[in-house]
Amino acid sequence: MKTKLLPTDVLNVVKRTRPVYQLGRKARFALGSYMGARYVAALDSRAHYNDFMLSSTSADHLESYRRGAVEFVGILGNSLREAGRDWQSIESCLEVGCGYGRIVRKLRHMVPPQAIAVCDVIDEGARFTAAEFGVQRVPVVEAMGEGYDRAFDLIYLLSVYTHLPRQMIEANLATLSRLLKPRGVLVFSMHGKQSAEMAEIYEQYWLDKAKLNAELERSGFFYARYPYYYAEYGLTWIVADEMRKIVAKAAPSLEFVAHHALAVDAHQDIFVYRRT
Ligand SMILES: C[S@@+](CC[C@H](N)C(=O)[O-])C[C@H]1O[C@@H](n2cnc3c(N)ncnc32)[C@H](O)[C@@H]1O
Repeated sequence: MKTKLLPTDVLNVVKRTRPVYQLGRKARFALGSYMGARYVAALDSRAHYNDFMLSSTSADHLESYRRGAVEFVGILGNSLREAGRDWQSIESCLEVGCGYGRIVRKLRHMVPPQAIAVCDVIDEGARFTAAEFGVQRVPVVEAMGEGYDRAFDLIYLLSVYTHLPRQMIEANLATLSRLLKPRGVLVFSMHGKQSAEMAEIYEQYWLDKAKLNAELERSGFFYARYPYYYAEYGLTWIVADEMRKIVAKAAPSLEFVAHHALAVDAHQDIFVYRRT
């Protein structure tokens, strides 16, 4: 069963007329919300019809969805080791941008569900993840406010900063650094230099690869909003040195632990930080 209803070339035609695309997207999400979730044997659990990370239940899509989550939980384990921690020492963990629970589905086998918190600007995704996997939904970081007093041993974001403009990343990092316990670990992914060099893999008809690489060379940073979105959401690339400068300025209490180019699915870099 396909959750992405239109073939890419047809979808690209629709995307060229923003109001039409947005109307179609709204209708698609409303249909998914109405249908809810179904049991998927290959995942040994239910998946939501709005889970945009699972474009169909064909065997290869299911396998790549499942493998992606297993590999990322492996990356989290390695990151903890690099930061001098291990899974046993994680009493509380937060996923920012959990979607419909792709990672939590696997993470709950490493960390007890009651120790996991999730949030997403798509609140339905966070609600589904919480209800389905027994974890806790918390407000998005931007809505937590100064008084929010919960602290975490591990915070991670997969494919979130890869879509946001600089100011949103900086503000998010500043808050996350306050939400980490001392020696708490932050792991996030980003599109880096090598990703930009193979930008055609993202199949974005509007993306000018030469302009992207020229801008990365010049400033170390590139963000462009999806032309078919109204919200500030698009595609972001940051070279490693610039990313480190951004973290040093926005979140000075974080110390750099590691950077791994192309560690996620051979196209996203991983950054690991630890709170001092
Ligand atoms: C590409 S999806 C990745 C979902 C999930 N991390 C995964 O890998 O399966 C990016 C997710 O980040 C969410 N997101 C974007 N900005 C966010 C923010 N400021 N706070 C929380 N979630 C955010 C989006 O709604 C979306 O669900």
